[in-house]
Amino acid sequence: MTGVFSGQMVENIVESDAWTMKDPPKSLEELEINLLLQGVYDHCGYDFRNYAPASVRRRLLKCVQEEGAATVTGLLDRALHQPGCLERLIDALTCTVTEMFRDPEVFLFFRTDILPRLPSDSFLNFWCAGCAGGEEVYSLAILLKEEGRLERSRIYATDLNQREILKAREGVFPIGKMKEYSHNYFQAGGTRSLSDYFVAKHDLVLFDRGFTDHLVWAQHNLATDSSFKEFHVIFCRNVMIYFNRTLSNRVHRLLYDSLIQDGHLVLGRREAIHSSPYAAHYDQGHERLKVFRKVR
Ligand SMILES: C[S@@+](CC[C@H](N)C(=O)[O-])C[C@H]1O[C@@H](n2cnc3c(N)ncnc32)[C@H](O)[C@@H]1O
Repeated sequence: MTGVFSGQMVENIVESDAWTMKDPPKSLEELEINLLLQGVYDHCGYDFRNYAPASVRRRLLKCVQEEGAATVTGLLDRALHQPGCLERLIDALTCTVTEMFRDPEVFLFFRTDILPRLPSDSFLNFWCAGCAGGEEVYSLAILLKEEGRLERSRIYATDLNQREILKAREGVFPIGKMKEYSHNYFQAGGTRSLSDYFVAKHDLVLFDRGFTDHLVWAQHNLATDSSFKEFHVIFCRNVMIYFNRTLSNRVHRLLYDSLIQDGHLVLGRREAIHSSPYAAHYDQGHERLKVFRKVR
């Protein structure tokens, strides 16, 4: 034996290289997308490398068009050198669609089944992870207020997208949305009028500033940041749907670590826990509504 560089070994390496060369090369587009994601990560720390490829591709190609670039590489060039382009690229890569009392049944279940089980003698901590423009956060705050639990509660509202956080903090929403949101509110068990919680001015509404004391807004990246507190309930809805398995697993670990024993995790309707390494640590709170209780 002549060490690791034996003749047999060299032959194996050559053979395996030859095999690699026969692999179909990545398409140029795929190569460019990977370079762009790596470039964005190295440049500013936003890590989209483990987002679902089909959705990333669709969003990037739309952004290429909107920015007037010829290629994905051209878009990277602009993102690195033209003021404002990087922010627009981040916006393009993060889908921020949301609404108040989205999937009202989930909020109704929270109101009637989860909240009554939470200890009445302790201060409650909630986390809306990936809160977009804040509609979910104000929905939760309203519900807590109506159930008499807001005074001893704090909602931590985080998102990767700093612009969304700044917008959400203002509590200002288009008045045109309020009809749909009112409908959701009633379906979520609301018995007052949603307009009790805002003042309207022209085509906007401003949500009650009284909520502010109970809300903590912060930029937090589920792909790279760590757990920062323990929560009674975590809402992380319609966020992991954009992630690949590797990233979803990382986030599941983060959420698990951030929940108290018996704490509840609320996912989006198209999100799953059964395939995550933490599935066995949760009981089904409500299967269809994607509510889970940490049991071990
Ligand atoms: C479709 S919105 C969901 C908003 C709300 N949770 C809901 O269900 O209506 C997804 C949000 O996740 C945020 N997001 C995406 N990647 C993230 C990450 N790595 N860390 C934190 N938030 C992220 C996006 O910026 C966006 O605001």
